Amino acid sequence: MSHQLIKVYEEGQVGVVELNRPNVLNALNRQMVDEIVDQLEMYDRNPEIRVMMIKGNDKVFAAGADIDEMMEETPLSMEMANPFAVWDRMTLIKKPVIASVNGFCLGGAFELALHCDLIIAGEDAKFGFPEVKLGVMPGAGGTQLLTKAIGQRKALEWIWLGEPFKADEAQSLGIVNRVVAPELVKEESMRFAQSLANQAPISVRLIKEAVRAAEDLSLMDGMKLERKNFYLAFDSEDQKEGMKAFVEKRPPHFKGV
Ligand code: CAA
Repeated sequence: MSHQLIKVYEEGQVGVVELNRPNVLNALNRQMVDEIVDQLEMYDRNPEIRVMMIKGNDKVFAAGADIDEMMEETPLSMEMANPFAVWDRMTLIKKPVIASVNGFCLGGAFELALHCDLIIAGEDAKFGFPEVKLGVMPGAGGTQLLTKAIGQRKALEWIWLGEPFKADEAQSLGIVNRVVAPELVKEESMRFAQSLANQAPISVRLIKEAVRAAEDLSLMDGMKLERKNFYLAFDSEDQKEGMKAFVEKRPPHFKGV
């Protein structure tokens, strides 16, 4: 598949999607979001890939949805184009997705990062929802994802004020997993991704499904899902290999089957 607005490459078993509209700070237009999600789905089906990473460039992750593309929209034009449907497909990705963030991560870009499972950020990263300053509001899941992550009061503060917040504050609220020096973001993200790629892939995806379900299910329904996934793991060769390696006192070699 040819891409115009993203770069795509693999490092070992990690598939990387790099946002590539530097002239407009990687502003996300619809074509770019389509390209990102299409590529994530391809990696999700590719047995050679175990983990995915979305990154910007050294200066910026992305400055949000493309304002030029949006400004003449009407309610009916958006109803017909259904521009946010593609975002729903991100929630169906089964493998881990890591956001690797330098610089601004605003609006739709922050929503993209919040759709990822983990966020690794540089000390230079700035997260926020400036939509209120444009007379609108987040539309690609921001009000829901941020509120589930940090609770209503903090989410309202962030979304009402529209100011960018620094990486260390985002980390203290549990949005960001790790904060490192700006020049180490790519390296740290890749190190994290590679260590996840070494885990048993079926365990990793079953864990993702169960942990994500915890936000929406009752405790009992969540426990039932967890149990089913625990049982399902016993259908894999990797379960046999993992336990055999333990008793044989050697490192396991997981094949993802
Ligand atoms: N859409 C379109 N173009 C954008 C853009 C965006 N979101 N963000 C930046 N650009 C463009 C600028 O227009 C500018 O283009 P020109 O050189 O042709 O003038 C170029 O990128 C560089 O931007 P700046 O000159 O503004 O760079 P700066 O360093 O002075 O400021 C910034 C950086 C503070 C991030 C500023 O660019 C900014 O505020 N951008 C908009 C942020 C924003 O409001 N994002 C939310 C969008 S709405 C949304 O995301 C809705 C949703 O939930 C789906």
